[in-house]
Amino acid sequence: MIDRATLAALDAADPLAGFRDRFTLPEGVIYLDGNSLGALPRATPARVAEVVAQEWGQSLIRAWNAHGWIDLGVRVGEKIGRLIGAAPGSTVVADSTSINLFKLLAAALTARPGRRTLLTETGNFPTDLYVADGLTRLLAQGHRVRAADNPVAALDGDVAVLMLTHVNYRSGAMHDMASVTRAAHAAGALVLWDLSHSAGAVPLTLAADGADFAVGCGYKFLNGGPGAPAFLSVAPALQADLRLPITGWLGHAAPFDFAPAYRPAPGVAAAVVGTPPVLSLAALEVGVDLMLDAPIAALREKSLRLGDTFLTLMADMPGFVPISPRDETRGSQVAFRHPDGYAIMQALIARGVIGDFRAPDILRFGLAPLYLRYVDVWDTVVTLREVMTTEVWRDARFQHRQAVT
Ligand SMILES: Cc1ncc(COP(=O)(O)O)c(C=O)c1O
Repeated sequence: MIDRATLAALDAADPLAGFRDRFTLPEGVIYLDGNSLGALPRATPARVAEVVAQEWGQSLIRAWNAHGWIDLGVRVGEKIGRLIGAAPGSTVVADSTSINLFKLLAAALTARPGRRTLLTETGNFPTDLYVADGLTRLLAQGHRVRAADNPVAALDGDVAVLMLTHVNYRSGAMHDMASVTRAAHAAGALVLWDLSHSAGAVPLTLAADGADFAVGCGYKFLNGGPGAPAFLSVAPALQADLRLPITGWLGHAAPFDFAPAYRPAPGVAAAVVGTPPVLSLAALEVGVDLMLDAPIAALREKSLRLGDTFLTLMADMPGFVPISPRDETRGSQVAFRHPDGYAIMQALIARGVIGDFRAPDILRFGLAPLYLRYVDVWDTVVTLREVMTTEVWRDARFQHRQAVT
């Protein structure tokens, strides 16, 4: 039997407990949405203020060199590369995840001429599907996007690239990167991993797993702030022949030569398109540095334990159907179906327990182990029980759907 005292004891013994103080969290709130917008690291406001007041304010345009702004995307990318187990020199920060998907999918299709299928998974995140669709329409070369329930079983000699989100945004189910990548390679296909719900949440070993391409968000578990720029990664073996569809001046070998013809920068730096968003990158770097301080094995262990605790406490809750794996194929979230999920989540949020809702009926709870405590899981389930027994969620103010939660 789990009780609150047992969970408080786990918190007291938690090797990650000190990390909570490195975040600003509002009083009285249990934050279970760090998989969507990570919390604010305490060091971020001062760092951003410093970049604004000192670097921008005092150094002005000299800051591009004096403060290394020009290489910021490469520098922070290199740090993210360490977090995701990518080879050195294969990861940069640039643009958004959607744009990076477009860039790397196009590169992948070009690298597999003669193959026409872009294979993905049913239920992949919409932007991944939309971007793939838009790209194939633009190319107008007979490519098609195919979404399969079991993408590994659907691999065949026509698949140019297999595009998968490593941890599913709804259920939290996680693919085995190594075995899926092996299967795709055996079929002659390249693999692109969307790590939006994985980076900073689960241990990743891209290089060891043979991953070809990867993209991911900076604003989720990396705590880079709203709209933080994204990262992308390209395996070293693919960099020399990388054919990118957006060839901007900052991906040029010598941008300040202002030459009329494009010549790609060596390596993954060619995937940087334009001027880096310096303020956002400064904030992202703080989040990434914080994450690099955290021992990933302890983080994973705690994340799984938080999820197990949540699923166990919810087991006798009528009407909630868990859709997250019970074992270690789960990422760092748990999710449940409930026909009144939207109103229930609104009622929870009104009581300071912030999770989110994903249509049509999914309540999703992100478990960010650096700032979530075991007792928070207990208190969440207690609050949910209250919401259900008082039926407060039936209140009209919780029924009306808003565009953004
Ligand atoms: C799996 C996945 N890919 C991509 C995105 C969004 O990317 P962007 O930052 O371009 O909006 C999200 C956003 O939640 C996501 O969950």
